[in-house]
Amino acid sequence: MQSHSFFTPTKVVWGRGLSNNTGEILKPYVQRKLLIVTDQGVRNANLLQGIESSLNERNIDYCIFDQVEPNPSAEIVDRGTIVLRETNCDAVLGVGGGSSIDTAKGIAAMANNEGKILDYEGVGKLRNPAIPLFAIPTTAGTGSEVTNSTVVTNKQTSFKAAVISPYMLPIIAILDPMLTINLPQSITAATGMDALTHAIESYTSKQATPVSKSFAISAVKIIGENLRKSYFVGTDVESRENMLLASMMAGAAFAQSRLGNVHAISHTFGGVFNIPHGIANATLLPFVMKYNLPACPNEMSDIAAALGKDISGRSAEEAAYLAIEAVQEMNRDFEIPHNIKDLGVSLDYLPQLVEDSMRSGNVFVNPRLTRAADIQAIIENAYHGIME
Ligand SMILES: [Fe+2]
Repeated sequence: MQSHSFFTPTKVVWGRGLSNNTGEILKPYVQRKLLIVTDQGVRNANLLQGIESSLNERNIDYCIFDQVEPNPSAEIVDRGTIVLRETNCDAVLGVGGGSSIDTAKGIAAMANNEGKILDYEGVGKLRNPAIPLFAIPTTAGTGSEVTNSTVVTNKQTSFKAAVISPYMLPIIAILDPMLTINLPQSITAATGMDALTHAIESYTSKQATPVSKSFAISAVKIIGENLRKSYFVGTDVESRENMLLASMMAGAAFAQSRLGNVHAISHTFGGVFNIPHGIANATLLPFVMKYNLPACPNEMSDIAAALGKDISGRSAEEAAYLAIEAVQEMNRDFEIPHNIKDLGVSLDYLPQLVEDSMRSGNVFVNPRLTRAADIQAIIENAYHGIME
C-alpha cells in the first residue's frame, strides 16, 4: 500500500530583532544549561550578543562550543558531544549557517544515543530522541532549522554522510533577518542558490506530494523575487526576511520529498574538494535541469513561471528551457562560475565522484531515472560547460 505524510513539528517564529528574545522563548525547555553550537565567524561578527544578553536576562546558564567548521566532520560532532557531557548541558542551540545547525543536531542526537554519529548514517537509525534542540539560522540557505537530517563528512573517506531521523528536528526555529543583514555578497549568493536548489529539486522529486510542492514552488517564487535585492543591496531587511522564510519553506518541502541529482553530486564535491555547498549546487543546477527536462517538462514550466518568465503561448518543453535560462541568469548576476572546472573540480577523481554520488538516496527520487553512466555524463558536461 502506498501512503504519504507531511509533518513539520518545528515551531517557526520570525521577526526583526526576534533573536533578542531567545531567552524568553527557550526558558521552558532548559533545565540545567544550554550549549550554543556555532563557529568563530558568527562569534566575531557579534551575532551572539543579543542572544547571550537575553539568556542572561532570563538566568539561563549556557556554554559556547564555537569549533564548527565548514562541511563539518563527524569528529566535530563527537568532540561537541564530549563538551556537552563535560559541561552538564541538557539542551542545544545551533546558531549559524547549515554547518553550525547540522553540528548542533548531531550533538543533540548523540547526547542520547551510544557510539559515534557515523554509526547512524542512513534513514531512521537513531534509537532515542535528541535532547531539546533549537536553531537560529544566520544565513538564508540550508533550511536545516526545519529538516530531519544532518550531513557530516567522514574525513577518512571524504564521504559526506547523511543521518536522517525525525528525532533530529529542532523544537523551535527563530528566524531573525537582522542576523543576516551583514552577510558578504558571496555567502548571500551561495546560500540563496542552495535554497533555490532545494526548492527546485523538491518540486521535481519523484517523492513530492501536493503539500510539499506547494511549499517548494512558493519558495522558488519568493527566492526569484528577493535574492537579487538581498545580494545587490545587502541591508534591505524585507528581502532578507523573505529569503529566510523561503529557505525555511524549501527545507520543510525537501524534508518530505528529499532532493535530486544536484545534491547527490554536490555532496561529493564538498567532501573531496571542500567547495562551498551552495556554489557547487548553483553551478550544477542548470546541467541537472537539462538532464531532467524530458522527465518533468510541466514542473519545469511551473518553475519558469515562478521565476518570472513569460510562458504564455509556449509548449511545456519550451517553457521548461526558460527555467534553465532563469537559473543561468541568476548565476551570471551572482558571478557564479558556469562550469565546475572553474570551481576547482578535477576529473582525476571521476570514478570516486560517480560512485559516491550513486550512494546518495537523492538519486532514487530524482525525476529522471539515473544510472552511474548518467551521473558521469552530467559531471563531464558540467566540467566542460556543455549544455547538450
Ligand atoms: Fe543544500
